[in-house]
This record gives sequence, C-alpha cells and structure tokens, in this order.
Amino acid sequence: MKRFILLIFAFALGLNNNAQVKKAITPIDRKVTELIAKMTLEEKVGQMTQVTLGVVGTKTDGELDAAALKKAVDNYKVGSILNVTNHALSVSQWHVLLTQIADAAKNTRLKIPIIYGLDGIHGQTYTLDATLFPQNIGMAASRNIELARAVTKVAAKELRASGVRWNFAPVLDIGRQPLWSRFPETYGEDVFIGKTMGTAVIKAYEEDGLTNTTAVASCMKHYLGYSASRTGKDRTPIYLPEIEMREYYLPQFREAVKAGASTVMINSSEINGVPVHASKYLLTDVLRKELGFEGVIVTDWEDVKRVHDRHNVAATPREAVAMCVNAGIDMSMVPTDFSFYDLLLEAVKKNEVPMSRIDDAVKKILTLKYKLGLFDNPYPEKEAIANFGKPEYQALALDAAHEAMTLLKNEGNVLPLAKSAKVLVAGPAAQSISALNGCWSYTWQGKEEQWYPADSKTILQSIMDKLGAANVSTTTAKGFDDSKNYDAAALTATASSADAIILCLGENAYAESPGNIEDLALDERQVALAKAAAATGKPVILVLTEGRPRFISNIEPSMKGILMAYWSGKKTAEAVADVLFGDYNPNGKLPFSYPRSMGEVVMYDRKPTEEIREIFNDDVHTGYNPLFAFGHGLSYTSFEYSDLTLSTTGLKGDANLTITVKVKNTGARDGKHTVELYSRDMYASITPNMKRLRAFQKIDLKAGESKTVRFSINKDDLAFVNAQLKTVTEAGDFKVMIGNLTADFRYN
Ligand code: BGC
Repeated sequence: MKRFILLIFAFALGLNNNAQVKKAITPIDRKVTELIAKMTLEEKVGQMTQVTLGVVGTKTDGELDAAALKKAVDNYKVGSILNVTNHALSVSQWHVLLTQIADAAKNTRLKIPIIYGLDGIHGQTYTLDATLFPQNIGMAASRNIELARAVTKVAAKELRASGVRWNFAPVLDIGRQPLWSRFPETYGEDVFIGKTMGTAVIKAYEEDGLTNTTAVASCMKHYLGYSASRTGKDRTPIYLPEIEMREYYLPQFREAVKAGASTVMINSSEINGVPVHASKYLLTDVLRKELGFEGVIVTDWEDVKRVHDRHNVAATPREAVAMCVNAGIDMSMVPTDFSFYDLLLEAVKKNEVPMSRIDDAVKKILTLKYKLGLFDNPYPEKEAIANFGKPEYQALALDAAHEAMTLLKNEGNVLPLAKSAKVLVAGPAAQSISALNGCWSYTWQGKEEQWYPADSKTILQSIMDKLGAANVSTTTAKGFDDSKNYDAAALTATASSADAIILCLGENAYAESPGNIEDLALDERQVALAKAAAATGKPVILVLTEGRPRFISNIEPSMKGILMAYWSGKKTAEAVADVLFGDYNPNGKLPFSYPRSMGEVVMYDRKPTEEIREIFNDDVHTGYNPLFAFGHGLSYTSFEYSDLTLSTTGLKGDANLTITVKVKNTGARDGKHTVELYSRDMYASITPNMKRLRAFQKIDLKAGESKTVRFSINKDDLAFVNAQLKTVTEAGDFKVMIGNLTADFRYN
C-alpha cells in the first residue's frame, strides 16, 4: 500500500513537471491554429514556397510584372519573396514595390501577408544610400561588442525603413579555411568571438520586439559547417568529424538559438556525404530537439533542387522535396520557379510527406509573420522612413572602420607619417570603392561602383584631403582593374619626389563562388608592384583591403608598415588615412592567423603536436608560425600588463573564478586596447588546445593611465567536447594567459 501511494505521488509529480515544461499557449499560437484549420493544402504548401523577385518582376529593377505577381500569389500562394533583380533600390522604390506585393496578398482568400527577405550583411545591402559598415571579419577585429550592436541596429532600421522585416544575417560560420570566398562574412577563426558577436548581433536585430520599426527578424546562417569546405571552394564537400563539428562549428548556433534567433538558413553543402538540407539528424535531432530551435528553417538558394541534381542523393526532384521537408525544412528558397510547390503537393498526396510535417512548417512561418506584425500591417511602415540615412550613421560607420583597422607592422615607427610628407599613392585599391566594401554592397558581388553613394571616398581622395592634392602623386586610375594601376615602371619613375609610398593592394569585391581562388597568393602584378616600390628605397606602407588573408610573405620583409584594412565599408578610406597620418590610433586585432604559406595554415588554438611537431636531436620543428598571429595588432602607444591575480587557485564545481589584471598605457598617446584572456587545459582526455580565448574586454586608456580589468569565468568556459561527444570540464590543471603573464589553477 505504501508503495502504491508513493507511486501515485511520483506520477502526480511527473504530471506536474510535464505541465511546467509545457509552454503556455500564446494568443499568437491560437491565431495560428485557427488559421491553419482554415487553410487548404495548396495554401499551406504555398506558404512554404519562396521565390526571387525576378519571378514576379520585369527586367527593369524595382518594377513588378502584374501578371506574374498575380500568378505567384493567386495560383501558387507564395508565402515569401526575396532579393533584388540586379541592384539596390531606393527607399521609395521599395515602398512602391512592397505595397504592390502586400496588396496582392490582401486580395487572396485568407489575406495571409507575404514576408520579404534580403541580405543586409554589413548594413542594408540592397537599399541605395544605406550605410555600409565593415564586413564581419572587420567587426571581429574591432573586438567591440557594443559597436557590433550599434551597427546592427542601424542595419535593422534601414531594412525596416525600406519595408523589409527579414534579414538573412548574421553569418555564424567560423573562418577556419582562409581560401573560402565567404571568409570576410565570418567573425574569423575563433569560436568565442563568433559566439559573442553573433549573439550580440542577433539580439540587436530582434530585441526591440519584432513589431517595432527598429527591429527585423534575423537569420543565423549557414547551419552547419558551411565554412569547412576542404578545397575552400564555395558549396563543395565537407568532411567534418562530429567531435570537431561540436567543438568549433556548433557553439555559435547553440548560443544564437538561446539569444532568440527567429530563423535559420541551411548550409548548401554536404557533410560526410549527406547534403545538410536532407539531414534529419542535423535539422531535426540537433537543431530542433537538442538546441531547442523553434523558428523557421529556410533553405539556401535552389538547395532542394540540388539534393537531386547536384548532390544526387534523391533520384527525382520530388524525392528531393520530400527528403528535405521530412528532414525539417520549413520554407524552400526555390527560388526561380514554382517547382517546389507542385512537387510538394504531389508528395503530400502520395503520402511521402505527412500532413503533420506540413502543418508544423506552416505553423512556424505564420508565427513569424504574426510576430513581425505583418497580419496587422503588411505594408512598408511610413513612420520607419525617418530612421533611414540619419547623419549620425556616417559617424558610426567611421567609428566602426576605425576600430577595424589592424596595424600589422610598423618598423622603426615609420607610422604615423607626418602630414607635411609628400607621398606617392599606388596600387589597384587606391582609386577603388568596391575594394573597400566587398561583397553584398548595393549588388551581390559589390563590384558595380555606380550604385555606391556619391560621397564614397577612395583612399587616394582621403589622403589628398589630409595632405593637399599638391603633396600627393599617384600612378593609379579609377577602378581596381585598370591596367595603369599595375604599371610598375611608372611607379618607379614617379617615386623620386615622394617621401613615402602608400601601396594599396588586396582584393576587389567578390561574393560566394565567383570569389573562388586557386591559391592564396596575391596576383603577380601586385607582387611586382610591391617589389618595384621597395626597390625605390623609399619607405613603403602596404595597405591591404581584402576579405581574406592573401599571402604577402614574399613582400612583407621589404614593407616598412602594413595596415590591414579588410573591407570596412563606407568609411574605409577615411579610416585608412586617419591611421596613416596619426589622426586615429589603431587598435584592431587580427581575428585570424595570417598564414605565412599554403602549407602552414594552422589556427591559433592549435594542438600540442602542432605547437611542437617533432624534435630530432636539437632540431625542434615548431608548428604555429603564422606571418602575424591571431590577436596581433599594433598601436601608436604601448600597453603593459601587471598584477595578474586569480580569486582562487583551486576552482571547485560551478564556482566562479575572478581574474584581474592591471593594464597601463605606457606610451605618449591615448588609445583603445583589447585585453584578451586565454586559458589552457594542461592535460585532458582529448588532446587540449594550446590556448583558447575565453573572454575579452576593450578599454580606453589615456597616456599614462592604468586600469584594472576584471574577468569572471566558470567551468563552462573551460569545457570541451569529449570522445562521447559530450561537453565536459575535466578536473585538472589549467593555465590562464593574458599578454605575457600567466597564472595556474586547478579545477576539481
Ligand atoms: C547565399 C545566402 C543568401 C541567399 C539569398 C545564397 O546564394 O548563400 O547567404 O542569403 O543567397 O540571397
């Protein structure tokens, strides 16, 4: 009897617990359930269909084809439209276009609004005169979370002012393959930076509340492992052991889900032979069940089709549709036709996809539309226009570009140059705007300069602004590709009257597959220019505007100064000139290890056997030997660390470890500085990393000023993925490293 009572008690408790974990039904849930009950299968499948603007537009950008729009909305009941035809539109063009789309949806039986999505990757890409900021790789160099939040808020406002409420950003793919053409869209090679900036950005997009005109739905992408392509070529096979996937690629997404990301876009590639779009394991078991993601899962461009015709794991297009939807896809970016709609209808009728899966997908999509306020007002919000193009965004763009600038070399303090200097400005990036902004800048590839704001500056112009045109000579012409820019003989001939040469090399804009390269070497013409510049005997300052690290090992020794400018958006040129001539004290830190050669692409969080590969007699073969290390970045002042203290040398259980360090600006200039805290697990069941970034803080220090910086970490910050694929912290000895200081503690 006693046992029986106990059982009843336990059962009641269990019920109670279940009731607690069950989420309360919200008013939106109720509306969605009621609406789904009224929908036909066709209407549901239409909601899951996303087409590109070209399908409903004419060839003229911004102009809709009324008949095509009617067909898409009435016959195919499409739930979503994305993209531009060719290039960015003005705010008013967007308003006209999106009003017509909203009107079309209003005329349908259930009046379900259409959700429009765009790629505002570093600011609102596709609206003319929107403010463009540094690419993520540059934001990562700034190590400034508040700044990342601030630029994101502007992107959200300028999207929403354009009438668009869904942004396909941020990219959370980790940049561990420098060949990859989407490297600039990443936050670099480190997991911690990726997850802290990524989550900050997601919150910044969404935290005002999705009905607010200052917010948009974010889209974490590209789940999962997209950046790990073996060859670095976009959308090519990935082989990724699960332990590595969980250690380096998944944490950013796990945190982003916790931060409340509304949507996710899927990796176009295959992992270990399984196209991610068809992976029930990754989409449903990991993303939905393990990470608890409840938002919309959208495919990337044409990826359902590719499961059949490129990946060849589905024998027919319909099988591909069924495979992907059953795996967990909610919406298909078809996007150039309606095949997905037709095939999914067929698949449901043939019982290849259960109705429950369709209802589940539609529920997610409708919930998002309700949350965004589209049912109440599907039209572009006129009151949002005031948030577009505010003058202060320009100042913010300059702040962001300034903080991205990473000074890699400054031999003999050649920099800053005197403003009384006479300089020769050379190289293909000197008079290019696109090479300062990169991908997703008013066009997908970012190369068409006619769409950039009229007041965009080149590096040459910004230097002339500072020194006066009479003190600046150049051997360059407008545009990256003009043959004049590569005339080494002209450079040699013009150099004699200059005190220094500012050589602007790097990469012109590219995005995705068009940015695929065969190796990281800079093209020979650029190398020849650098050699010619060095041969003049004048000090050469190399300015790199590039999305990924191109090899410069062959020219680096003869360059006196090297400034990594990345693709830092609208104010790149001004920021470069400010740093070169001392109006801004640089403080960016490399978010990746700048490789020395193709055979030496080793990450900073290397393993012990990468640190010291082999010892033969006295011959030590070291591994981590990049040209410039992760975290490297010089300043015009100097910082000194002292008094590293730990609150305990015996950390226990879930307790916190407080770490403090004193930082002093020992130079003569004020400066910003990022203090980075690394840890090392000395021995572990899985070979430990030599170091891992666990925290960072950016501070401002006046010349001579000191500050004490405090960090707090706990066992979760020290965890790693073990052989059972569990994230664990094992007892043992650890080392904390800040600059050249170290301290030890034990975890039990
Ligand atoms: C890219 C995505 C992007 C989508 C829509 C794809 O080619 O991979 O990152 O969001 O196009 O423009």
